[in-house]
This record gives sequence, structure tokens and C-alpha cells, in this order.
Amino acid sequence: MKTVRTISELRAHIDGWRAQGLSVGAVPTMGGLHEGHISLVRTAAMHTDRVIGTLFVNPKQFAVNEDFEIYPGNESVDAQKFADAGAALMFAPPMDVMYPPGHSTCVTVEGLSGILEGKFRPHFFSGVATIVTKLLMQILPNIAIFGEKDYQQLCVIRSLVRDLNIPVKIIGGLTVREKDGLALSSRNIYLTDEDRTRAPALFETLKDVALVVENGGDYPEAIQLAIKRLINSDFSEVDYITVCNADTLLPWGESGIESDFGRVLGAARLGKTRLIDNVPVVRAQSF
Ligand code: PAF
Repeated sequence: MKTVRTISELRAHIDGWRAQGLSVGAVPTMGGLHEGHISLVRTAAMHTDRVIGTLFVNPKQFAVNEDFEIYPGNESVDAQKFADAGAALMFAPPMDVMYPPGHSTCVTVEGLSGILEGKFRPHFFSGVATIVTKLLMQILPNIAIFGEKDYQQLCVIRSLVRDLNIPVKIIGGLTVREKDGLALSSRNIYLTDEDRTRAPALFETLKDVALVVENGGDYPEAIQLAIKRLINSDFSEVDYITVCNADTLLPWGESGIESDFGRVLGAARLGKTRLIDNVPVVRAQSF
């Protein structure tokens, strides 16, 4: 697997593949690769002839108090992981390739970017939308894969691709979990040993809420119980636990778009780490 750093090198490879009639998949990442990323690369390789893994720690999606400077990752280790998983090329651009001097264009998906995660990380989705738009335009892959672990991010990306008519199919990759249910995340390394034993409670409580929804039960009460359980498990704060329409992320039953598919999403703080997770839910009854 080769590593390229400029858009012209990237496009030269893609042009060569296209000339041979080969299809292309993209797996954008910020490095710190774990089994979740590996499974995205493998999925992309099942759908396309050549997979490009991208590695760029995007400063525009970090607030000043966040972990941009120390974001976990090691380029040669990540390159090896991309290669082992079946990527044909790694695109690891330097800062000035992605953000040339004078760069002033920003992509914002209105609405979706201001709710849930957007309330706690107001800068985040416009940073993600901007860099993902650039990567998709640079690569123009047939498909691009993003993990469902960052479910709202996936919804934002689907929206920008639709709204900007970018001819790329977006695929959501299933969340990969530790044996005890904790969703894999590059930031899990920030958990202390004690936090780590408590962290799976987030997934457990989201599953409990999903079960209540699916059985047609009183889910607002289930959400309150879930919050109490997390606080009793030493989570310092629960930013939100909510049940939403799986496409619009509007509150379940209030979206105006009838859909049988919902999502329970949650974010909570454990020690110095902020964890997010989500689980699917299927409608039990008509509203
Ligand atoms: O999910 C991530 O790792 C990042 O948000 C992404 C999509 C690569 C954009 O920087």
C-alpha cells in the first residue's frame, strides 16, 4: 500500500484505476485506528475494487479546549493497519493541502448540526461537514463508509451528500464493541482502569431504553431511569439520552415523517472522557 500526500498524486492513482474500470471506496479517518475502522475498510473492500483510507486529524472539528494536540494515532502503525485490512492507498495530506492559506469556505448542514451533539460541541459538525465534503470531492469514490458509532455524524454526512448532489453512496458501518459492550473509539484510551469497568453502562442503559420503546412502554420514564443508573455508576454528567427518528433525529413520534425506524442516542461523561453511543429501535405501534 502506498501513501500519498497531495491531491494530484491521489488523483493520478484514482485516474489509473478508473481507466481500468475499477471502482473506488473511501474510508475517512483521523487515525488511531481500531477494529471499528478495520471493519469499515473490510466492508469497503467487499463493495469496491480499490479502497482508499484517509488519515487527517482535522483541527476544524476540535474546540480549543479539546484534544487536537494529543489526538491518539501513529502514522506508520495506522498505515500498516490500513494495508492489513485491504486498503490500496492511504491519503495522509499535510495541513496546507487540506486548508491552504486563505481558506475560508465552510460547509454547514443547518438543523441537524445544532441538535444533540451540536448543542455540546457547536463547532463540531461544520468542521466534519467541511472536511468530509473536501475528501469526497477530492476522491469522488463510488462509496464512502462512516461508522454508525457516530450516528449523528453519519446523518449529517448523508444530508450534505444529498444537498450538494455529490455522486457518492454513503454506507453506515456497524459499531464494533468490546466483549462487555463498550463501543470501540480512539478516545477510549483516555479512560482510567476504573472508568473502563464502568463505561459499558452507557450501552446497557441505551439498550434498556430501546427495549421499552419496542415493547410500547413508557420510554420517557425509562430515560429517567437510565440517567439515574449512569449517575449511580459514577458518570459525572449525562448530556442526553433521547429517542429519535433514525433519519431526521427529531424526537421519536414528532418528526412529521412516519418511519418505523428510530435510534436511541446518548452522551455521558465518565471521569475526563465523554462517551457517546447509540442503538437502533424499531417501532412497536402506530402513534
Ligand atoms: O469520524 C471521524 O473520524 C471524523 O469525524 C471524520 C469523519 C474522519 C472527519 O474528520
